[in-house]
Amino acid sequence: MPQITFLLPGGGTQTLEAGDAPTVMHLAIRHDLPGMPAECGGQLACATCMVDVAEAWRGRLPAPSPDELDMIEDTIGSVPEGRRLCCQIAVTPEVDGLVVRIPGRQG
Ligand code: FES
Repeated sequence: MPQITFLLPGGGTQTLEAGDAPTVMHLAIRHDLPGMPAECGGQLACATCMVDVAEAWRGRLPAPSPDELDMIEDTIGSVPEGRRLCCQIAVTPEVDGLVVRIPGRQG
């Protein structure tokens, strides 16, 4: 079962068993992690599920879609290196050990 580590906006770290969570966003919501409103529930319509993927993982995840990148850019004006909408990161066996940082602000 994949484990995913979240670096929390106020400091601190939480490593969670993904269980049957379909996406990284769902995992964060289920554990009520701070800084993750995920207002649209994963519909790629809110950009309030942003994370920064740890550098070592950036080339190991499936690439973001153009719509995901557009949503980030429309919200914060650019796409910082490693920035993703975590409702678009599927939980698969390949993401075991993934590390993401929840930014201090969503948008
Ligand atoms: S939860 Fe709304 S875009 Fe990810």
